[in-house]
Amino acid sequence: MESLDIELPSLADTGKLGKLLGEIAEPGDVIILSGPLGAGKTAITQFIGAGLEVPADCYVTSPTFSLMHEYRGRLPLYHMDLYRLTTEEEIEELGFLDYIYGDGLTVIEWPARLGSLLPEEHLEIKLEPGRDENTRTARLAAIGNQWLDRLPVIRQTLFG
Ligand SMILES: Nc1ncnc2c1ncn2[C@@H]1O[C@H](COP(=O)(O)OP(=O)(O)OP(=O)(O)O)[C@@H](O)[C@H]1O
Ligand SMILES: [Mg+2]
Repeated sequence: MESLDIELPSLADTGKLGKLLGEIAEPGDVIILSGPLGAGKTAITQFIGAGLEVPADCYVTSPTFSLMHEYRGRLPLYHMDLYRLTTEEEIEELGFLDYIYGDGLTVIEWPARLGSLLPEEHLEIKLEPGRDENTRTARLAAIGNQWLDRLPVIRQTLFG
């Protein structure tokens, strides 16, 4: 199973998906989040953190200005926001590849900035705004093998 579209009628639905992703994450996983400003990339990352058992007092916030935040959960969570970066060289100089190829879960907002540095294995999530303020669609795609077997697990868990 290579792709899965999920309707998210409310923030709580985004919460269920995010928590599940955190619960099933494995060391070295990479999740890339695309979608326009305000689509919910940081919001879903907060729930991924909860699913990874990041303590609630380590509140997951937008790393737009700091570019990366690291949290300690069941696995380390590396949350990157590459919006303000423009070149692959910048990303390399910041040492971000060490995190991406490390043993935690890396979640990346604005991943297009990675260009050719994008790792081959990852879960791609496109968040699209829906009909009203609280509605989103998440389009999940397993790129490479690491997430292939987990997409059916996600579908089964969320929809039975
Ligand atoms: N179903 C939903 N899923 C996700 N977020 C939602 C949903 N409904 C409402 N929201 C709200 O939409 C906002 C999304 O903002 P967020 O900062 O997560 O966007 P973003 O994609 O990270 O934007 P940016 O590109 O600026 O970083 C939050 O205030 C969140 O509460
Ligand atoms: Mg954000």
